[in-house]
Amino acid sequence: MRDMSTSGDLDYDAWLQESPLSWELPPAVRRLAVYGPPEDPVLATAEAEWRRAVRAAFGEEPARADNSKEHAPEGACIALGLLSALPEGLREAAQIALAHAPSDEAYAIVPVPEGGAAVASRSAAGVLYGTFHLIRRLRLGEALNEACTSSPKNAWRMLDHWDNADGTIERGYAGKSLFFRRGNIDFDERRVADYARLIASVGVNAVAINNVNVHEVETRFLTDEYLPDIARLADIFRPYGIRIFLSVNFASPVDLGHLPTADPLDERVQAWWRAAADRIYRHIPDFGGFLVKADSEFRPGPFTYGRDHADGANMLARALAPHGGVVIWRAFVYNCLMDWRDRRADRARAAYDHFVPLDGRFLDNVLIQIKNGPMDFQVREPVSPLFGGLSSTNVMLEFQITQEYTGQQRHVCYLAPMWKEVLDFDTHARGPGSTVAEIASGSLFGRPHGGVAGVANVGDDPNWTGHSLAQANLYAFGRLAWDPSLDPAEIAREWARLTYGDHVDVVRTLTGILMASWPAYEAYTAPLGVGWMVNPGHHDGPNPEGYEYSKWGTYHYADWQGIGVDRTMATGTGYTGQYHEPVRSLYESLETCPDELLLFFHHVPYTHVLHSGKTVIQHIYDTHYDGVEAVAWMIEAWRRLSGWIDPVRYERVLARLEDQLLRATEWRDVINTYFYRKCGIADERGRHIYP
Ligand code: GCU
Repeated sequence: MRDMSTSGDLDYDAWLQESPLSWELPPAVRRLAVYGPPEDPVLATAEAEWRRAVRAAFGEEPARADNSKEHAPEGACIALGLLSALPEGLREAAQIALAHAPSDEAYAIVPVPEGGAAVASRSAAGVLYGTFHLIRRLRLGEALNEACTSSPKNAWRMLDHWDNADGTIERGYAGKSLFFRRGNIDFDERRVADYARLIASVGVNAVAINNVNVHEVETRFLTDEYLPDIARLADIFRPYGIRIFLSVNFASPVDLGHLPTADPLDERVQAWWRAAADRIYRHIPDFGGFLVKADSEFRPGPFTYGRDHADGANMLARALAPHGGVVIWRAFVYNCLMDWRDRRADRARAAYDHFVPLDGRFLDNVLIQIKNGPMDFQVREPVSPLFGGLSSTNVMLEFQITQEYTGQQRHVCYLAPMWKEVLDFDTHARGPGSTVAEIASGSLFGRPHGGVAGVANVGDDPNWTGHSLAQANLYAFGRLAWDPSLDPAEIAREWARLTYGDHVDVVRTLTGILMASWPAYEAYTAPLGVGWMVNPGHHDGPNPEGYEYSKWGTYHYADWQGIGVDRTMATGTGYTGQYHEPVRSLYESLETCPDELLLFFHHVPYTHVLHSGKTVIQHIYDTHYDGVEAVAWMIEAWRRLSGWIDPVRYERVLARLEDQLLRATEWRDVINTYFYRKCGIADERGRHIYP
């Protein structure tokens, strides 16, 4: 099978680069002991990955050290193993290190004599995650034997693929599907395995393989016609500790089963889903469960039968429960046939209004998957008030790694700083410290399930993500889902070193570009939290009124005097009332509302003075110039790396950055002209704004 890394495309190996390392093979690395059942596929992966990393780095593989359970290996070595299988001396140390780790997927690295290290976990998956951590250390030239324990904050760390059976990817910007072609489950096994190892290396443990919008062919994925091939996909993911999920069509009993109804309270419907679940588990014994978009954007759901989301989700959950599966039910439910003339209607309210009344009614194997913001993955939104609104329901946080509204992987836009703000956001649901990270993981309310999902940004492009720097988003997603306390700049630095090597200027520049990119993108696109302003349908490029008079509930209400949506309780849609105090008052009051969200919560005149001291209109003009300048700086900085980065990756990124500059300039001029024409207020700094 082809090995793309040797074809000169280093992007293919992403953050698992295979270049030789310049330092000497540490003695401990010469020998490897593995403890656990040899037939365990995940343990075998851990061993294979370690061997592969050592071979790539030093040109030779470690020898097998004695791994009898009676005594610890003599002399320096690396040991990988299940806690229960470790020899006594090692087991004790590992046991102590793992004693307070809540998750079975946690790993400990404990020093062994003469510079060696043992990776231990209660589960094979934990050993695999610890092994990848050791590989990171190896590549970064860090001490292998420093003691550490790491336990994932989130039980589910999931990637949602919006892949269609015809091979296209909804909101995909990196080529075609890795799983499907021409209506079939048809894939390059090597490529899927390489994808599995990439995402397992950052801790991902679940993958939904098909689009939440389930069309005709994908509806049939639940049948014996497709399940054998889906099982082959599951077989590829399994040795990497990854379980697969299917997005399902709520109307399947009608579309597939020819029943007259899909009413979740109808016994025939329940029996149909039970049989479907039994069938799936016959093919895929560790199947994760269903991901469901129901009663949303024209997808079928329980509303048709006068039932609610709890009725629908619980019915599916009962079918999966005997097999240990879960239902991930999306909260992205709103009226997409709104009337822009009705200033009281507010799409932002919808998820909370639908789901809070159902709190406490969902079964324990249901998770409600909530987008980070109340609208739809805009470059700036407040945190969805459903976090903290639900306290007796499992929830899962949904991020969009694919850059639908954040530059479509033509613009560099490193999203980890945005995700971090969301994770750290204090909802005050149970007083101070009630962060989204605590809620999503389930810990704040003591829920049995929790997690973080990201809409995947990969396709079959040779570099996986279209824009090479968009790999950083996939990397950071995994790292933050595992440990939300990590610092995005630190993740960027780590990613840069692993991906591009340790040259100090390369690392500094890459980290600088990544960290500047989300603020830059926000600066030259829609201002102050107002959102949208994109071309309808594909959502690329500026169009200030693209969604203004449409049915989608996405308005900014700009007129000649002012702009913004009044979402206050006092005079607006009342949306602010969905937050707990003191967040509610913070947003309700014009005085305290943070600048970056001002137009999300308030309608103000262009002359309104922000906390920054600038008027709204001057802020708009300035940020649009600043944003474009930031991109020009990125290009200059990147050019200085010429010669330090291999030509293929260098040119590929340069081409994207140059294209970004044109696109950013387009954004700047369209937005600035739009507002200048609306209000007639000149730029204080006298720059040329096209009339
Ligand atoms: C957005 C996106 C759709 C997607 C939807 C969803 O609206 O544009 O393509 O289907 O979100 O999350 O379900």
